[in-house]
Amino acid sequence: MRTFVILAHKAPLTHEFSLNDLPGGAGRIDVLCRCVTASFCLSHGIRKDVQVYLVFQNQLVVRLHGETLRHLNPDERSTAALLQKALKAQSECVGEQEVQSTSGIFVSRRGLPQLLEQLQSQNTKIIQLHEAGAPLRNTVLPTNCAFLLSDHLEFDPAEDALLSQALRLNLGPKSLHADHCITIVHNELDLREIN
Ligand SMILES: C[S@@+](CC[C@H](N)C(=O)[O-])C[C@H]1O[C@@H](n2cnc3c(N)ncnc32)[C@H](O)[C@@H]1O
Repeated sequence: MRTFVILAHKAPLTHEFSLNDLPGGAGRIDVLCRCVTASFCLSHGIRKDVQVYLVFQNQLVVRLHGETLRHLNPDERSTAALLQKALKAQSECVGEQEVQSTSGIFVSRRGLPQLLEQLQSQNTKIIQLHEAGAPLRNTVLPTNCAFLLSDHLEFDPAEDALLSQALRLNLGPKSLHADHCITIVHNELDLREIN
């Protein structure tokens, strides 16, 4: 299973945003939609062995699970509509428990610390994708790991503190868009699988 965690700093905490203004009024949710596309979409199909956690403003987690994910298309607008349904379904959340909004998409009221705790309890090593990290290309990866990225903004100091024990890796000398980083990681892992 390949796992990606994307930290969204401005994306909305309610479903009350317009699908006609994703980069503006919807707090750059377009960035998250592109990350979802890059995580799951192949030219003709969906990667089933992928799990994505979107952390909204350190307060909500939307999880997308490739095995059961349905209705995902490559366009940003329909992905945003799926995320909107997840945000609406949070009204049914009790405590930190997940609620399924549509097939393969779950929402819970949790932040990054709780998510990191869960991943650590599952023996998943966190890999922080960071421009200042060591090169991924020369690194032997742990079997069970989760790649964590920021959205269009830098990691904030509180996030950096929470991630102080994480392995920091970079993908090259340029600062890239988050969705492009996901494509590169998939490509690297695809190549490692056949070599
Ligand atoms: C658009 S960047 C964030 C803002 C960016 N640091 C800047 O200076 O504008 C999105 C995220 O992608 C990841 N990223 C971008 N370039 C990377 C690289 N060369 N190596 C590893 N991760 C990278 C990091 O997680 C980064 O926070």
